[in-house]
Amino acid sequence: MTILDGKKVSNDIKNEIKAEVDKLKARGEKVPHLAAIIVGNDGASLTYVGSKVRACERVGFESTLVKMPETTSELELLKKIKELNEDNDIDGFIVQLPLPPQIDTQKVLLTVNPSKDVDGFHPENFGKMALDMSTFIPATPFGILELLERYNVETNGKHTVVIGRSHIVGRPMSILMSRKGWPGNSTVTLTHSCTKNIATITKQADIIISALGVPNFLKAEMVKDDVVIIDVGITRVEDATHPKGYVITGDVDFENVSKKASFITPVPGGVGPMTIAMLLKNTLLAREQRKGS
Ligand code: GUN
Repeated sequence: MTILDGKKVSNDIKNEIKAEVDKLKARGEKVPHLAAIIVGNDGASLTYVGSKVRACERVGFESTLVKMPETTSELELLKKIKELNEDNDIDGFIVQLPLPPQIDTQKVLLTVNPSKDVDGFHPENFGKMALDMSTFIPATPFGILELLERYNVETNGKHTVVIGRSHIVGRPMSILMSRKGWPGNSTVTLTHSCTKNIATITKQADIIISALGVPNFLKAEMVKDDVVIIDVGITRVEDATHPKGYVITGDVDFENVSKKASFITPVPGGVGPMTIAMLLKNTLLAREQRKGS
C-alpha cells in the first residue's frame, strides 16, 4: 500500500511555483496577486482562507483578504466582485463558499470575470473543462489529478466510482476522470444521496473518489482488494481530548480500508493541501495569461 502524500507533493508544487516567482522577480516582472473574499465567520471557512493567504506568502505571491460581515447583502458582494474584476493589480480571486442564505451563489459565480476565476467555478470555465478546452480546473479536482499523475496511478480503462455530486468536487471529478487522456479514460459511476445499494457499486470500483462529508462512511467491506482511494472528506468531529476540541476526519475508515488499498490518501495531509497548491498554480496561470496588462 502506498500513501498518496498530498502534503509532500503540495510542498514540491509550491517549491516549483516559488522558483517561477523568483524568476519573475529577477526579471523585474509583476508577481501574481490572489484575492479571497470571505463572507461571515464560519470557523472552517476562515481556516481554509487563512491557509490560502499563508500559502501565497510562502511562494512569494501578493495576497488580499476581503472579510465581509455575515449580514452582507447580495448587492454589496456583487459590488465588491466588480471592484476586483476591474482592479488591474489582481490576477485572480475566489469567493469562499458556502455563502450566507441571503446571497444567491449562482449569481455571485456568474459575476466573477472568467479570466480571474481561479476556482474554475464560472459556467464558462466549467463548460470549457467539460469540453477538454484549456481553462482553470477547480482546485480540488485539479489536485486529485496531479496526485494520480505524480504517483503514476493507472486510470486507463479502470472503473472509477465518485461519491457525491457537488459542483466543487464530485461533478467535475466525474467529468475529468472520463475524459480522453491520462489521468482519465476511466469508466465513471457518479453516486449520490439517491443511489441505491451503494456498497454493491463501490465493491466494483478500481478507484473510489469520496467527496461526501460523512466521517468514516466507506468501510473495508465496501471495497475490493487493491482499490485506489481518494478521500476528499474533511469533517470536524468533536474530540475533547484534542487541544482544538475537534479532529479532522475523512469519509474513509482509513485504518481498515488502507489494509486493502493499493494507494490511499490520508486525512489530513492528502487532498486538502493539494487544493491549495493547485489554487496557486491557477493563479500563476492567470498572471501568465494577463501578461502585458
Ligand atoms: N469551499 C470549499 N471548497 C472551496 C473551494 O475550493 N473554493 C471556494 N471558493 N470555496 C470552497
